[in-house]
Amino acid sequence: MRILLISSSYNGLCQRAHVELEALGHDLSITLALSPDDIRKGVTFFQPDLIICPFLKEKIPEDVWSKHLCLIIHPGIQGDRGPSSLDWAIMNGEAEWGVTVLQAVEEMDAGDIWATETFQMRQASKAGIYRREVTRAAVKAMLLAVRRIESGSYRPEPLDYSKPDVLGQLRPPMKQQERRIDWEHDTVAAIIKKINAADSAPGVLDVIDGKEYYLFGAHEESLLRGWQPGAIIAQRHGAVCRAAIDGAVWITHLKRKHIVKVPFYKRFLSHDKHCDFKLPAAKVLGSVLTDTPESPIDPLFVGTEPTFKEIWYEEKDRVGYLHFDFHNGAMSTLQCRRLLESYRLAIARPTRVLVLAGGSDFWSNGIHLNVIEAAENPANESWRNINAINDFVHEVLTTDGKLTVSAVWGGCGAGGAMAILAADKVWAREGVIFNPHYKTMGLYGSEYWTYSLPKRVGPVKALELTETPLPIGTKKAKAIGFIDEILSDHYDEYWEQVRQKAEALAKEPLFSRLLEEKRELRQKDERVKPLSAYRAAELQKMKINFSGKFYGGEVNYHEARYNFVHKVRPKETAAYLAKHMRLDAAKLSELRQPLAY
Ligand code: COA
Repeated sequence: MRILLISSSYNGLCQRAHVELEALGHDLSITLALSPDDIRKGVTFFQPDLIICPFLKEKIPEDVWSKHLCLIIHPGIQGDRGPSSLDWAIMNGEAEWGVTVLQAVEEMDAGDIWATETFQMRQASKAGIYRREVTRAAVKAMLLAVRRIESGSYRPEPLDYSKPDVLGQLRPPMKQQERRIDWEHDTVAAIIKKINAADSAPGVLDVIDGKEYYLFGAHEESLLRGWQPGAIIAQRHGAVCRAAIDGAVWITHLKRKHIVKVPFYKRFLSHDKHCDFKLPAAKVLGSVLTDTPESPIDPLFVGTEPTFKEIWYEEKDRVGYLHFDFHNGAMSTLQCRRLLESYRLAIARPTRVLVLAGGSDFWSNGIHLNVIEAAENPANESWRNINAINDFVHEVLTTDGKLTVSAVWGGCGAGGAMAILAADKVWAREGVIFNPHYKTMGLYGSEYWTYSLPKRVGPVKALELTETPLPIGTKKAKAIGFIDEILSDHYDEYWEQVRQKAEALAKEPLFSRLLEEKRELRQKDERVKPLSAYRAAELQKMKINFSGKFYGGEVNYHEARYNFVHKVRPKETAAYLAKHMRLDAAKLSELRQPLAY
């Protein structure tokens, strides 16, 4: 079928829908819902058999949904309606939630139901639930709906609140008033629930030291205590710990309220740096924390008690597992340095295999664009950051006393998608989406990708992957040698498989031989071209990018970063997504005519 995806942004779910539907042989094009006319243009030019909206905040124009079968993926159970579905589900402590594929009609979320899936809720942020449970259920329901449409005989079910399995209801948008934390009365559990329900957007509005901030990234603390609820009692790695009536809670990120947005080209006219985006809490609060004590944590933390930790370690049966769960997979200079320190400690352990587990939402998304944007000199900070991440990748590439595995549960993009390749083996959860390219950020890229990527996929595919900034799924990734194994999409099963495979590797009778081969291969590669030469060549091009000049692309890094961090909507759908815009001359002339509606 010709399927047009209409989405508010090309987010993780839209990328997954794209990859899954294309793998089934459907002809896909994508249009961002930037305006009703953009939607109409996409429909007129592509003439789809079916429209799917994986993530839509805008209304589909009536002249589109009345003439084309148009399915909306709604992150709620049957009968649930409104723009704050997941927020309410978390806030109300629902044990089970779901995703419903609805036909677009005049009333929002009230159309006929083509498919629905449910899942068990877990304690996590809204974005975490969205990236894991919602995405898995959405893909399943979407593929079922597509099969039902293809069958030609399936009749979707009208929404009928009298049916016993229709348990949802129309809910209003959740307001800040409903999200507000009452520090004098709310327990740690209630505070975490409120922050989770608003994370990653819009955050919970709160006041610290007389100023308003949105709060993100809540973690329970088991040891620290304070007398004054709401007071900041400790800081750690950019997060702050605040006392609550029955314990304490860490808050990792803040966003300042009330800053007027300025476009990129006007930013130099302002006296204040417009940090109206999410940053590590300590960075935002600055001198407010002068007297706040640091609460140190072991670089190879092995505890299980609740606290805020980005890096932790487990070990069993001669296998080490290094977890690094950086918020949004973004790795700042300091985070990379801490990771390197922990990695070195893990390597020194008497194990045979080290599994690099990444985090629960992302393995890594490369250098920390928000921290760079907030820096006094973003070019210098970019340079420090890329070198810090390279130092970590270099350490993995040159580890010769162990076998290393990248176990990829969360997605990864740009430098993060290249960093996974530094390990000897790459295993990934079935639903992972990889974005192994830097072009959209106006970067040439580093992380030794010019060594690792062609080595795995060959020079032609390496060029294809880096030149066309499209995501790839695990099937394609495995077929081209980007990864070695595809593992289960279910968390517990996935971890069972990772452990079994890693332990089997550690128990391999020919383990010494494998290690020897690894060393020989590295030495051979080093003789052909030293790693330092790859790094120097990559960094030379990155230096050009950081200086604000272009390197072989039409995107300026500083502008692209500014737009990414400030969430500036693009003016149009990128050409590599909007297949329908690759017009021939005849269609171009149609463009000048009024649209067919
Ligand atoms: N630095 C800072 N924040 C980052 C980040 C980075 N490198 N990569 C992702 N994020 C943040 C996003 O701003 C977003 O924040 P929010 O939801 O808290 O507001 C969150 O992570 C999720 O990212 P999103 O883009 O919504 O996820 P996705 O699954 O739709 O897309 C990527 C994944 C990797 C394609 C996309 O995030 C991306 O292009 N990231 C930039 C990668 C990059 O250029 N890195 C620098 C070069 S090494």
